[in-house]
Amino acid sequence: QNSRKKLVAGNWKMNGSFDSNEALVLGFLPEVDDQVDVSVFCPFPYLSQVGKLLEDQRVTFGAQDVSAKPGGAYTGDVSVDMLKEFGVKQVLVGHSERRQYHAESSVAVAEKAVAAIQGGITPIVCVGETLAEREAGKVEAVIASQLDPVVERCSKFVESGTWNLVIAYEPVWAIGTGVTASPEQAQEVHAMIRARLNAMLGPEVAQNTRILYGGSVKPGNASEIFAKVDIDGGLIGGAALSSDDFSGIIRAAR
Ligand code: G3P
Repeated sequence: QNSRKKLVAGNWKMNGSFDSNEALVLGFLPEVDDQVDVSVFCPFPYLSQVGKLLEDQRVTFGAQDVSAKPGGAYTGDVSVDMLKEFGVKQVLVGHSERRQYHAESSVAVAEKAVAAIQGGITPIVCVGETLAEREAGKVEAVIASQLDPVVERCSKFVESGTWNLVIAYEPVWAIGTGVTASPEQAQEVHAMIRARLNAMLGPEVAQNTRILYGGSVKPGNASEIFAKVDIDGGLIGGAALSSDDFSGIIRAAR
């Protein structure tokens, strides 16, 4: 056992409406207690609604992306300070769909993580290999190339005592495909990520940083995944859109 509290995070992606958001949140709220941290990541236009629904609740919420820039002529972008006005505490950065469809580089992702920590919100930095990369034996090299720019740029926060970051390992081949990594496959990569944090930032950061698994997590497979020693919860896509499924996954994290 370790001292890291499990985190179950729901990434709604580009889904939702005022009605469905309300039904979803009200549906899973009864399942939330203080044994497991729970958060949801909604599209920008719903931050205000979700903030109100979660007022005085134990659930935190956030956005699915953020700009590294503080403001200015960046059409379509949203800054850390803007998110904070809505009560946002966490933000996803570097999701594979952002890397794939918006050509976000690992350096751009790292800069977003820096901006978030600097502004006092927690980035959940997503990393993960494609199937072709796994089959070519490149898992470690790919994860390192995604992680190292983040660790290098954020190490200053370890020195200042403000390190505050979550990592999500999401193998691209497991996202939305129904094919999940086996608990052993996921644990292997999580252990590698923790070892890298240990080597680059020391044992305290390595032991205290939560590493989530994402990719076709469902109520039926969540407990065996969460039972692994280096897996500290999940980043849930499809199953986070059903209050029954999301509740089941929260239960599995207890
Ligand atoms: O960020 C969560 C995600 O990409 C996993 O999606 O639908 O496979 O749970 P899904």
